[in-house]
Amino acid sequence: MTDFPTLDRFLLNNRQSHLDQLFELLRIASISADSSKGAEMTQAANWVEAKLASGGLKTKQILGDGPPLVYAESVPVPGKPVVLVYGHYDVQPVDPLNLWSSPPFEPVLKDGNIYARGSTDDKGQMLTHVQSVLAWQQCNQQLPLQVKFLIEGQEENGSAVLESKLAEIADQIACDVIVISDSSQYAKGQPAITYGLRGIAYYELRVHGPKADLHSGSFGGAVTNPALALARILTEMKTPDGRIQLPGFYDSVVELDARERQMWASMNFSDDAFAEQLGVDALTGEEGYTTLERRWARPTFDVHGLLGGYQGEGGKTIIPSWAAAKISFRLVPNQDPKIVSLQLQEFIRNHTPPGVRVEIIDLHGGRGVMANPNSRFMKGAMQAVQEGFDAKPVMIREGGSIPIVAQMVEATNADVLLHGWGLDDDGAHSPNEKFCLEDYYRGIRASSRLWHYLAM
Ligand code: BES
Ligand code: MN
Ligand code: MN
Repeated sequence: MTDFPTLDRFLLNNRQSHLDQLFELLRIASISADSSKGAEMTQAANWVEAKLASGGLKTKQILGDGPPLVYAESVPVPGKPVVLVYGHYDVQPVDPLNLWSSPPFEPVLKDGNIYARGSTDDKGQMLTHVQSVLAWQQCNQQLPLQVKFLIEGQEENGSAVLESKLAEIADQIACDVIVISDSSQYAKGQPAITYGLRGIAYYELRVHGPKADLHSGSFGGAVTNPALALARILTEMKTPDGRIQLPGFYDSVVELDARERQMWASMNFSDDAFAEQLGVDALTGEEGYTTLERRWARPTFDVHGLLGGYQGEGGKTIIPSWAAAKISFRLVPNQDPKIVSLQLQEFIRNHTPPGVRVEIIDLHGGRGVMANPNSRFMKGAMQAVQEGFDAKPVMIREGGSIPIVAQMVEATNADVLLHGWGLDDDGAHSPNEKFCLEDYYRGIRASSRLWHYLAM
């Protein structure tokens, strides 16, 4: 028999301590993309491992070529499902630093929000599950099922270690359902279960031209300008009405079904309010689709950064020797990043003007995820989220990607439950990232219920 009143009392009495612990983890600058942060990655992994060990879980670090994986498990409970919690302790880079109101790794509580890099993505959300398992242990309550944890340090940067170890640890992480809180609620006060995530295929394109920068007066007009060639290639990649031009790109795209479209249409989403939230005067995208459809269930192409040419003060008249772009395609379930790579190669072959050479660097990718909305675990998750957040969750998809999840699902053959405690305006990956303190507490409460309801 689960003693909910005791658990609830424990959670109430330990609010300050739960906040202090999150602050500790947030003070570690575990930026996975920054190769100078090796010590911080290890420090964060050790912190997570020690926390799990303090709750009596058996823990282990799995070491590879990069930040450690933290693995932990509670005791097996025969006849009951096994849950695997996945999350990440790494965070995104902090630049532009001058736009932060307080230093990214000195967490502060302001107006009910915790401000720090990683507060929502994903240290705060991930920790809710750690805290709830510790709460069960500290209240002397036997967990009604086995909970395993796999917390990695490279989600934001390609998950190379986890990918390389996946086959090796398949037995260890064997489970019936993978639980992930690394996404968002639908809106403030409206929690959600996310049944779909997009995939991603990420590249750097490098356009190589003359062997050195050239005087644009002496040579301009006689050679292809790599920056202009790159700009043309990028604009040819997508039509003004939002269709991606890679050959065969839409072949495996699954169209939205009518029920899904209807469900989202009834979700009272305001384009105007959304545009205002983002500070733009218009929303744009693929013709024939609503904003939610474009964000959650349609593939896209985006440019993340442009490099090359003169970046300094004033003018400098050169034809740059090279130019480069960081680009990605968001993919919908059934699209495969490996196939997109082939399509991109063909597109580049057909769109490279004479006088330059285009190099494609494959950075990382992952397939999208679709959870089964009718899985045996869905009802329990709904109930747990409802009790944690005092509101019935809605079913949504989201546009972001957790690239390794598709492979984890394949390796374990498990169901997947995605319920995020964040908010769209948390500023994940941006300056002044935040996580609502009450959502941290509600997340811990929802998680404390989850073990009970998933065991039924
Ligand atoms: N937590 C996000 C994924 C996410 C974002 C899910 C928004 C749902 C809604 C994750 O940490 C992330 O940022 N993923 C990256 C992957 C990329 C670095 C390969 C992403 O989606 O850009
Ligand atoms: Mn994340
Ligand atoms: Mn992220």
